[in-house]
This record gives sequence, structure tokens and C-alpha cells, in this order.
Amino acid sequence: MRPAVARTRAELADLLSARRAAGERVALVPTMGALHAGHASLMTVAREAVAAGGPAGGPLVVSIFVNPLQFGPGEDLDRYPRTFDADLEVCARAGVDVVFAPSVDEVYPGGLPQVTVHPGPLGDVLEGRTRPGHFAGVLTVVAKLFGLVRPDVAVFGQKDYQQLVLIARMAADLCLGVEVLGAETRREDDGLALSSRNVYLDPAQRRDAVALSRALRAAGEAGAARGGPAALDAARAVLDAADGVDLDYLELALPDLSPLPADVAADTEARLLVAARVGATRLIDNLPLTLAAVDGAHPRDPDH
Ligand code: PAF
Repeated sequence: MRPAVARTRAELADLLSARRAAGERVALVPTMGALHAGHASLMTVAREAVAAGGPAGGPLVVSIFVNPLQFGPGEDLDRYPRTFDADLEVCARAGVDVVFAPSVDEVYPGGLPQVTVHPGPLGDVLEGRTRPGHFAGVLTVVAKLFGLVRPDVAVFGQKDYQQLVLIARMAADLCLGVEVLGAETRREDDGLALSSRNVYLDPAQRRDAVALSRALRAAGEAGAARGGPAALDAARAVLDAADGVDLDYLELALPDLSPLPADVAADTEARLLVAARVGATRLIDNLPLTLAAVDGAHPRDPDH
């Protein structure tokens, strides 16, 4: 069944109020559209999360909104893929109840907001270093979506790992009363992480782009055997040998993205994050690693 589509706050409230009043839990998957199998897996996680709350389940809402506030000058706001009819099909197959697809004016009446959410120091590292203001834009729109939909559970992809950590942090620090869940990254058969921006890649770039996930996998094996420095060296060796990949950063951190201590205990859980340009397209990826203990580790890549 096709989901109901709400274009305005009032339509959204009409669709949800009776179900919320009946005690049903609401799940939200915020997206910018151009939906693919990765988004569908977020919907599955969200559906399961509300079903776990009781026999009646609850409505699953997907928002589709290309948020201008999170795009910097010269980024791809205008050409970001907009595929609404196909998105509705993905939502229908995933059993979504409500698609909230507001206009920019509906989300930002009277222009962009004067009060925004500041991401704190975590907003200035990794993606934030290359994309100043990006996470303030993301957190502000997500806070607005939380206010409009009032979900009990919201699901985001681990592919945008820094975004996920920041949103979970915002929900906790600002007591927003929503449980934030992260869903595993979905990948093509060759390892490339699914992303709406993969459509920008031509066939040669598509082949080059697989170096990111190959680098992460190589790091996973080296890190488990020989620790963090070996993980970084292994990933860098793959990226250095790759054609057409212009590395932005390759960094190893603890799962909450705080810096990895120089001396880690055996079996330390960490995250390796990478960003690179392939042609004109900026791609990101990351992987959880379990690190062997080493002395004198260099937790952040000194060159980047
Ligand atoms: O990950 C995205 O698609 C966006 O950053 C989000 C979370 C929907 C906010 O616009």
C-alpha cells in the first residue's frame, strides 16, 4: 500500500494525532530522498523498533527533505538527486505509513532560522573540517523534524557515522526524548557503501571508488593483528595505490569519535573513517575495528 503523503505540518499532525493518542509509538527515518536499499534497511530497523514496543506497533514516518541549511556554498544542493515518485515506491515496499515531504517554506517559514543547534567540538573535526556549518544544518533540521513528528524512535545510517554520533549526542544532551538508533551500512557486492551520491560516478570513477571500502577492510585485518598504526598504514597503502582517489582524511577514533589514546588495551573497539574525492564526488565511509594492543600508537594520521 502506498503511504499517505503529508506536505504540511497540519497534514502530518492530522495523520499522526489519533495514533499517538491511542498510545502507539512513532518511528521516524529522516532522509533527503533519492532512496536506495540502504534507506530501506533503515525503515526495516525502524519498523522492528516500534513493533518491539507492543503488539499494536505504530506508524512509521519517513521524511523526505533536501535541507538547504546543511549544504555549503559550491556544494551539490541544486543537483542533489530528487526522485520523489521512485522514493514513494521504496516507501510502499517497506511498509511506510506516512511520508512527510514538506517544502523549504514549510520547514523554514520566514526564511532560515535565527536559532540553530550548535554541534560543539565534534562538529569541527572530520567532515566538519571540510564542511564548516554542515553539522549545525543537520542538527537544526533533525531537531525540527523531531519537533514536528515527535517520534519515539529515529533511525539513521552508520554510513554517516559522525552525523549519527552527533544526533545521538544532541538527543541525549538536549533531553529530546527520542531513542536514536544506528543501522549498519549497506554495501554493493564489491564493498562500495550505498549512497545517494553514487549516481554522480561515471563507470571509471565507480571502479575507483571501491578503494575506500577496500582500504577499510585491509585496515580491519591489520588492526586486529597489529593495532592502530598498522591499521592506518594498511588503509593508506590501498588508497595510495588507487587511481583517481583524492584523499581528504583517514582517521582512527574511539566509537564516540573521541581521540584514540596512544596506548590501547587489547581488543579496543574503534572506528576508522575515510573521506575522499573521486572525480568531483566526495565520498565517505567508515568501519568498526577491533584493535590489538601496541605501544606508541599514532591515533590520528599526522598528514591529514
Ligand atoms: O543523512 C541525511 O540524509 C541527512 O543529513 C538528514 C539526516 C536527513 C538531515 O537532513
